[in-house]
Amino acid sequence: MLEQKDLLELENLSKENIELILDTAQKFKKLFTKSVKKFPALKGKTIVNLFYEPSTRTRNSFELAAKRLGADVINIVSNTSSIMKGESLIDTGKTLEAMKVDFIIIRHSISGAPNLLAKNISASVINAGDGFHEHPTQGLLDLFTIKDKIKDIKGKKIVIVGDIAHSRVAKSNIFALKKFGANITLVGPSTLVPESFKTLGVEIDYDLKNAIKNADVINILRIQLERQTKNLFPSISEYVKFYKVTEDLVSSLDSNVIIMHPGPMNREIEISSHLADTKKSVILEQVTNGIAIRMAVLYLLSLFKNISKVSL
Ligand code: CP
Repeated sequence: MLEQKDLLELENLSKENIELILDTAQKFKKLFTKSVKKFPALKGKTIVNLFYEPSTRTRNSFELAAKRLGADVINIVSNTSSIMKGESLIDTGKTLEAMKVDFIIIRHSISGAPNLLAKNISASVINAGDGFHEHPTQGLLDLFTIKDKIKDIKGKKIVIVGDIAHSRVAKSNIFALKKFGANITLVGPSTLVPESFKTLGVEIDYDLKNAIKNADVINILRIQLERQTKNLFPSISEYVKFYKVTEDLVSSLDSNVIIMHPGPMNREIEISSHLADTKKSVILEQVTNGIAIRMAVLYLLSLFKNISKVSL
């Protein structure tokens, strides 16, 4: 059982707890890839998706995961709620709690917003991505996908390409992968790959071709122009010239290398369209695995709160 009310970050989640989530997700994946997709462990429970930033994958994945567990789901989008009238995050959280909701899934542009909410309400809070901080369920689904393909990732080379500085996905990946002994290389322009990341025990490179030599996994991140307060590289065409990952670059590598991207993709900017659609790409498997991971997280947190109706 996960001995915690909330899932806010992977940095402080033990390897054993991560393994528990992955094992549980494996069972849910088996279940929902069969014809009967529902497992009513959360029947009668209510889950709120509270999203202050846009999302396709994470929000819909949490909604489907919750519905497959039999829960009721409501979606709150900041631009159509009282958030627009200046309501604070804590007041929104307490208002939802007064409606007796059981889980709040929150995405916010400010790092630490989910932690603040979790401290102020008794409902379980799950971080669906906060600022530059973490995106724990993305880190878990990426780890699940890598382990599904590679099994033992100890000593394997995982290369993360692109906008590391603004990426909560990179941080959650690093925290999770390091616990399983992976060797991680970050690559991108120096303005997007700060030297300070070396303190997390990763290698840093600024040359894409060199960085991906002997890679087992290449995880390509989106350029997050919306989070950049100043121009951190001369132009998109300059970025494309030096850091777009293409089929040509990858063809010289071990044929078993897998290509990942958390989405949404900017085709022909950070990844060539052709590469995104090749057999090496597991991008859509990441999406499928995301539902299994989110079912597992919701289920395991509900066991801690003793609100689950059914045992897996
Ligand atoms: N990977 C991810 O977080 O995608 P969304 O922004 O679509 O949720």
